[in-house]
Amino acid sequence: MGPLVGAIDEGTSSARFILFEAGTTNVVASHQQELSQIYPQEGWVEQDPMEILRVVRTCIENAIDKLIASGGSVNDIVAVGVTNQRESTIVWDKTTGEPLYNSIVWLDVRTSSTVDQLLDEVPNKSRNKNYLKPLCGLPLSPYFSAVKLRWLQDNISKVKKAMVAGNCLFGTVDSWLIWNLTGGVNGGIHITDVSNASRTMLMNIETLKWDPVLINFFGIPSSVLPTIKSSSEVYGNIDEGSLRGVPVSGCLGDQQSALVGQQCLNRGQAKATYGTGCFLLYNTGNIRVHSTKGLVTTVAYKLGPKSPAVYALEGSVAIAGAALNWLRDNLSVLSSFGEAQEISEKAAKMRDGEVYFVPAFSGLYAPYWQQEARGVIVGISEDTEACHIVRATLEAVCFQVRDILEAMNKDYGSNLTSLQVDGGMTASSLLMQLQADLAGVTVLKPTMAESTALGAAMVAGAAVGHWNLSGPPLDIPAIRWSPKFTEDERDVAYSKWKMAVERSMGWVV
Ligand code: G3P
Repeated sequence: MGPLVGAIDEGTSSARFILFEAGTTNVVASHQQELSQIYPQEGWVEQDPMEILRVVRTCIENAIDKLIASGGSVNDIVAVGVTNQRESTIVWDKTTGEPLYNSIVWLDVRTSSTVDQLLDEVPNKSRNKNYLKPLCGLPLSPYFSAVKLRWLQDNISKVKKAMVAGNCLFGTVDSWLIWNLTGGVNGGIHITDVSNASRTMLMNIETLKWDPVLINFFGIPSSVLPTIKSSSEVYGNIDEGSLRGVPVSGCLGDQQSALVGQQCLNRGQAKATYGTGCFLLYNTGNIRVHSTKGLVTTVAYKLGPKSPAVYALEGSVAIAGAALNWLRDNLSVLSSFGEAQEISEKAAKMRDGEVYFVPAFSGLYAPYWQQEARGVIVGISEDTEACHIVRATLEAVCFQVRDILEAMNKDYGSNLTSLQVDGGMTASSLLMQLQADLAGVTVLKPTMAESTALGAAMVAGAAVGHWNLSGPPLDIPAIRWSPKFTEDERDVAYSKWKMAVERSMGWVV
């Protein structure tokens, strides 16, 4: 076994620690554990920051135990990278290390009224959602961290007090983990990387620095903000457990990390990750493409302090796998994700049933950005059975991806003919075929499933000279699904989807 690079992959529903042989896709040991979600009220989604930390520590130690059991040595680990659910917002007291509130998870929509309030502050009473987009690449939406941070400041007195006393630190999950793992109250480093910072609404997308106009707009004290670093450099060393002394040298938001892990390092390459939500990123190279079609401009990565930033156009879909969880937990029509394929195959002929489901549980993200939208199921007749709803759920994921692809093609001015995919839902070959059929693209799924963790390992390894990112990309074999629908079939189905989307909009008044 040669040098090893570890990746902490902290997602919304689980965390894992994976050890890769440097420069390769070979996984030598890994451990994964679920994370709890807390739903204090309708539309509120929280997680316990201490649980996140505990689970990550358990994953690290268990993976290392497995490494040792298989004859490996912890001394071979040369670097660790962090990749994380983005936007989720944590505030803590730097003198005690205590979180001041639960993490407000990216999906949470409690801040709809905060967005409303902020829209009133847009000059000329225009209430233009895209007012800050030229500066930060993002529209005003409950999704992004600055809005959540503003809510915490306005509503949680403990947070306000700690801010006034100068003891409050803010971070997305990357910052929280890195601060704790590098020493916490005893000198932990408070940093984030450009890809995570680009999801806060506080970083200027061009200068890659916290922007005074943005900070002022949200009224956030700049003392709470982490230092912005590149995605690939040594930030500091781990100061605890079996990894003590190992450098943390890579950090990427999980969607950007999947782009890297999918080897989409060239302009014009795109990937879609199907998880709780679904996220499409299109690498636009060093060019910041300004979307006029409802996509966001985001930093994909920056491979070192002196390297230029690489940008991406992103289309984020809030509800993908989460809709299947809803079928399982709230409607009890499924007992597992695996069953979704089996059940929807029962919905016999492809368009049979004609049911459309828009799972806008927490509004619609790209390309609509309608926080007032709510879910609708349309086309129900007396013949409709549970299997039609299950199939409509899988199709909804594919239609939402098509919505994004349409916008990307228009914004970028060229048609994507193939899409690299990853994430838990790609286990369903029916879903992948539906995606090819309903979007009219070839779908390519690498046989190496851990694209997100791989991306973090690549940038961390590169920073310590154990991964060459300037050579040819890793050659990862892929499974392929080609479209079988005619253009006509595809367009008829899509126009009905658009009608269903219309019906979901403006539900909350
Ligand atoms: O923007 C949210 C995204 O980063 C969450 O990803 O994989 O935890 O669902 P995931």
